[in-house]
Amino acid sequence: MIEKLAIDGGDPVVTDGIPKGMHGPSVIDEQETNAVTKVLESQNLFRFSDNSEVLKFEQETVELLGVKHSLMVNSGTSAIICALTGGGIGPGDEVIVPGYTFIATAAAVVAVGAVPVIAEIDDSLGLDPTDVERKITLHTKAILPVHMQGVPGRVDQIVDVANQHNLQIFEDCCQCVGGRYRGRFVGTIGNAGAWSLNFYKVISTGEGGLVFTDDYEIYERSAFASDPAMPMWVKDRAEYIQVGDTWMTAPFSRPVLSSQ
Ligand SMILES: Cc1ncc(COP(=O)(O)O)c(C=O)c1O
Repeated sequence: MIEKLAIDGGDPVVTDGIPKGMHGPSVIDEQETNAVTKVLESQNLFRFSDNSEVLKFEQETVELLGVKHSLMVNSGTSAIICALTGGGIGPGDEVIVPGYTFIATAAAVVAVGAVPVIAEIDDSLGLDPTDVERKITLHTKAILPVHMQGVPGRVDQIVDVANQHNLQIFEDCCQCVGGRYRGRFVGTIGNAGAWSLNFYKVISTGEGGLVFTDDYEIYERSAFASDPAMPMWVKDRAEYIQVGDTWMTAPFSRPVLSSQ
């Protein structure tokens, strides 16, 4: 506990200057440069190779977040798309999203063929649970709360609404990477969570994203949605085919993120 704030003459907590510029990239230094150079020198650039940097980052985030599965993709938008696909959301379904968010939240719902239904926010900056309940119809399949500006929304009340109406929750944590709600990482409370690791985020590899979940079915369908060639690498599920887009990421990302 600090006795006196620095502005009142106390000892400053940060002594070597607050980084300027964009959050993640502002801390890039020789640690990241050396780590990326090592990956290039190793020539181990394949996502599925034994010692792949992508697999390492997925393992690190499984341990950090305390979830069972984590899938690295190339953006926060594709992380949400993969999570929704993983949850079986598709044409004819409605997904409730907040009126205050980045366009990618609603765009991801449209990308899977579902309809984004906009609900009000409240002073949490996130979804107003009362308005969410008003927006539920026979077609509603999921709620997509967004934790804006690093502030977790009203997670408990949204979970209550979801449970009462048998809806899934996909948490857009793109602006709240590493944020916690009552001691739990945001994104680990609903059915799946999504991070963005883009230029503006607190840890950044320029572009990147992560889907994480405890649910193997969601993870598996997300993985297949991220890479239509997945059956070639997951031999025991070779009969499973999902033709879609490719949202894979390059191995340079992990050393940058892990340094940060
Ligand atoms: C709330 C929110 N959701 C989704 C995204 C999409 O992330 P990305 O730009 O990595 O696709 C962003 C990005 O800024 C965001 O702020």
